[in-house]
Amino acid sequence: MPVDGTAPRVRIFEDAEALARGAADELLRRAVAGVEARESFSLALSGGATPRRLFGLLAAEPYRSRMPWARIHFFWGDERTVAPEHRDSNFGAAEETLLSRVPVPPENVHRIAAERPPPERAAAEYEATLRRVFRLSEDDWPRFDLALLGLGADGHTASLFPDTAALAETRRLVVANWVEKLATHRITLTCPVFNRAACILFLVSGAEKAETLAEILASEAGVARYPAQLIRPVDGELHWYVDRAAGQALDRTKGITPA
Ligand code: 6PG
Repeated sequence: MPVDGTAPRVRIFEDAEALARGAADELLRRAVAGVEARESFSLALSGGATPRRLFGLLAAEPYRSRMPWARIHFFWGDERTVAPEHRDSNFGAAEETLLSRVPVPPENVHRIAAERPPPERAAAEYEATLRRVFRLSEDDWPRFDLALLGLGADGHTASLFPDTAALAETRRLVVANWVEKLATHRITLTCPVFNRAACILFLVSGAEKAETLAEILASEAGVARYPAQLIRPVDGELHWYVDRAAGQALDRTKGITPA
């Protein structure tokens, strides 16, 4: 649970399609409100398969004509060390399903150039991008208006995998994280960055995550068995949008809202 004690908001949707639609509605609402209030909206996208349906919905009506695309800045929470055209690229997935279909100014798309070795330089370059775009001084942290996150069955989120060095990072915004079980580096934003977001929205779909999700949401504040439990916004909201399959092991008495 969040260190400040505010319980995360958990919404359960009938299936993956309803989950994507619920996320699209929430993202639209927040983007419109954010642009009205601050004339811009900083959005960090998650990778993997789950957000693809969300991206497809946003690229079509009724969302396409209502999203303030010119004022949204796109970032990534993590990236694989592959070219943007590679099928595993998180940027590539967003480009294919969303960015190539909506009028986002190219200068608003801040991808992680993770394909260029060494990975440590890719991480440093992205950190410099964050500092430039958010106009950060040396000791400042970016504050994303919204960061999407996924969950792996092992409890990882972004590329913060169990037993990896990135989990302990407290100073850098972006690191190249060696993931032994994948035998590769991943470029990932660090916990302090995610924890300064105004809103964290986890999207979790699929029965294979049900037990891990139930353990994460049932555990007490301060107990972090899984990397995803390190995500506790210090001054922001934490939302879990899950489909029924992923939520099947949840204790319905604990502040869970059927969508
Ligand atoms: C990545 C993601 C990762 C993902 C989870 C869930 O780069 O793979 O950032 O954290 O969100 O692994 O992935 P699925 O949505 O494919 O289950």
